[in-house]
Order: sequence, then structure tokens, then C-alpha cells
Amino acid sequence: MGSSFGVMADKYRNDKDAVATLMQSIQNGAKGKWGRIPMPAHRNMSQDELKVVATHILASKP
Ligand code: HEM
Repeated sequence: MGSSFGVMADKYRNDKDAVATLMQSIQNGAKGKWGRIPMPAHRNMSQDELKVVATHILASKP
């Protein structure tokens, strides 16, 4: 298995809405997309910050 971010990038490789999806998951939290453990929300991040982080994750190599 590769890096965690690389695995995420791979899952969303052909998804044109991937940046928006990851921005929402990071901002609001997520559950059930990868496993049974929920991801906590990050409510104080700006849209710009969310976009930078989501884009960075999606650019990760496997
Ligand atoms: C800088 C902080 C963090 C970033 C940028 C980040 C990023 C992400 C991203 C992009 C996903 C994938 C969401 C999706 O597929 O839509 C994810 C999932 C997840 N994260 Fe985080 N995360 C962060 C912090 C945390 C923390 C603090 C925890 C736990 C204490 C956590 C636990 C999880 C879990 C359990 C999932 C899987 C949720 C699911 O199955 O849907 N994350 N994270």
C-alpha cells in the first residue's frame, strides 16, 4: 500500500468533483467513505485553505 494521501488521490483520480468533495469532507467531517471510523470536522478553515489542502492531497503520488 502507498501513502494514505496517495491512496486517496488514486480513488478520486477520475472524479471531476474531487476537490469539492474533499473540501467538504475536511470542513464538515466524513464517515462511511473509507471505513467505520468518522473523520472530525475542521470548521475554522477558510475556503482558500480547504482548497489548498484538498488540491495538495489529490496531487499525492501512490
Ligand atoms: C489536517 C487535518 C486533516 C485533513 C486534511 C484530513 C483529510 C482527510 C480526507 C481528504 C479524507 C477523505 C474524505 C473523503 O474521501 O471524502 C479523510 C478521511 C478520514 N479522516 Fe481525515 N483529515 C484530517 C484530520 C483527521 C483527524 C484529526 C482524524 C481523526 C482523529 C481523521 C480521521 C479520518 C478518518 C477516520 C477518515 C475516513 C472517514 C470515512 O470513512 O469517511 N482525519 N481525511
